[in-house]
Amino acid sequence: MPFYLTLFLLLLLIGFCFSPLFLGVPFLPTHRKQARKMMDLAQIKPGMKVIDLGSGAGRLLFMAAERGAMAVGYELNPFLVLWTKLMILLKGKRGQVQVFYKSIYDADIVDVDVLMMFLYPPHMKKLEAKIFNEAKQDVKILSYVFQFHNYTPVASEEGVFIYKKTA
Ligand SMILES: C[S@@+](CC[C@H](N)C(=O)[O-])C[C@H]1O[C@@H](n2cnc3c(N)ncnc32)[C@H](O)[C@@H]1O
Repeated sequence: MPFYLTLFLLLLLIGFCFSPLFLGVPFLPTHRKQARKMMDLAQIKPGMKVIDLGSGAGRLLFMAAERGAMAVGYELNPFLVLWTKLMILLKGKRGQVQVFYKSIYDADIVDVDVLMMFLYPPHMKKLEAKIFNEAKQDVKILSYVFQFHNYTPVASEEGVFIYKKTA
């Protein structure tokens, strides 16, 4: 393997392992089984726009893209953003998967069909007004593990909570 590629991969690995220590934002991927469950519950179809708020290493983005959706991630950990960009190139998903090094609180969610997240209670509390005010009326909102404070899910399965604005 060329030296610079080895160095790049090594830096990414170090970043994965240690970045939560200095960023203070823990990364934990959604379990594969639950990630598939989220895709099923959201009924992801070709042409849909899906956003993962705090997209981590991009697991939900690539699963949504496999089902034909346009997938967009927002992530503040630079190592995870780099990793996702690398995977987009390697998997040939340019044009179908995008990731922004940008806070979830500044995400453009206005025209999205499905909003997904696996965040922590303080994020859920801070995000809920933005989501329920800015997202379109028929948006499907899915949260893994944690719930919103002032809204009741319309359903839940295997740790995935589903919300609708119209409910
Ligand atoms: C529990 S992980 C979930 C990763 C991914 N969504 C998945 O399901 O595999 C939460 C992610 O949110 C990111 N995050 C936390 N606060 C954020 C913020 N303000 N803006 C963008 N990303 C954030 C963390 O860096 C972390 O990668």
